[in-house]
Amino acid sequence: MPNFMQPIPLSLFTLAPLVIVMSGCSTTQPKNSIATLTSSHQMIYPSIDSGLSESLYPHEQEIAEEISDVIEQSIRQQYASGNARRDAHPKAHGCVRAEFHVLESLPKQLVQGVFIPGQTYQAWIRFSNGSPDATNADIKRDARGMAIKILGVSGKKLLEDEANATTQDFIMINHPVFFANDPSRYLSLMQDLNSESFLKKLHLPFALGAKGSSIALSFRTRISNPLQARYWSMVPYQLGIGPDRQAVKYSVRSCSATTTSIPKNPSHDFLRDALRESLQKGDACMEFLVQPRTSSKMAVEDSMTEWKETQAPFYPVAMIRIPQQVFDTPDQNKFCENLSFTPWHALPEHRPLGAVNRLRKVIYDRISRVRHEMNSAKRQEPQ
Ligand code: HEM
Repeated sequence: MPNFMQPIPLSLFTLAPLVIVMSGCSTTQPKNSIATLTSSHQMIYPSIDSGLSESLYPHEQEIAEEISDVIEQSIRQQYASGNARRDAHPKAHGCVRAEFHVLESLPKQLVQGVFIPGQTYQAWIRFSNGSPDATNADIKRDARGMAIKILGVSGKKLLEDEANATTQDFIMINHPVFFANDPSRYLSLMQDLNSESFLKKLHLPFALGAKGSSIALSFRTRISNPLQARYWSMVPYQLGIGPDRQAVKYSVRSCSATTTSIPKNPSHDFLRDALRESLQKGDACMEFLVQPRTSSKMAVEDSMTEWKETQAPFYPVAMIRIPQQVFDTPDQNKFCENLSFTPWHALPEHRPLGAVNRLRKVIYDRISRVRHEMNSAKRQEPQ
């Protein structure tokens, strides 16, 4: 828990980097003169499912656009055309080919969407650091991302413009909870972060509140190998459609309990090195788990409270095999940069739930379009 009684500059310097890590935004000052992306594509703000206890915050849709504006302006200012990166998670450790094997035997209520017993899908997985600063050394404390893109998934998807895409994404971070629930609080945090005003920056720890600040602090960890970390969806998703639909969260962990230690003199990109060396030696194995909600007290609009495993157990639904491979090539790294992950690349059976996910529908779409447009890169889902 940050100590808000300590001298303000100290709490600013201890908290600000933590907040920046997960803010989905860098600290550059947006310039009003920077044009935002105008597009004619269809973007319908998600409606809520009151049957699963979703509820709208005031002005959510406008706030989603405002947050997108702040992030877009930050990217346009930070990067030259041709070199635009993701605003959050810009540093990849690599994109690896994987197989997503759904287990042969699953509890009946989990047989939904892509979870078809015995089915195998090809997939891409992008491992990343969370910080908006892609030049950070991997030894620096940070949030670590794992984004899975399952291929060959038939059925109409939720994103209006990409309804015919054949991909299903699952996006995770190595921490069980997110640091904010309230869209207006999140917007004010972003505005403070992007302000040149010192006074506004002093306000940063208060923008998140005590609980949010404490979560933001615990986000930042060191890991020895992206294949050995545990990842969580943090925010909930629907599983199934119709009267039997339920709210779930996801998690991924290594099949093996052994972890290697962090090297004594870690190289700048030692997590990429660890991934490369592991996959040169042989296959890797991870388990994909689903955690059904077991009580209405596990609120879908509250991303800041963990659904304790003791009260809501995780069930393994798939085995992820990452075959021995060479992934660290210029072509594959470029392909990796140009991928776009969003929780809304999804079948209706895996519909994202809660305010944070609703905001992400608008924000991820805009930011992905902006960076592809700046880089003159084609934006398309892989087959
Ligand atoms: C309102 C809250 C959030 C905002 C504003 C936000 C913002 C962003 C943005 C702008 C990107 C880059 C998108 C692109 O350029 O394609 C991104 C990527 C990412 N976000 Fe978030 N995010 C939020 C919440 C979350 C949550 C709850 C998670 C938890 C799993 C998460 C995990 C990730 C990961 C792992 C990536 C990298 C995906 C990849 O490898 O391409 N974010 N986020």
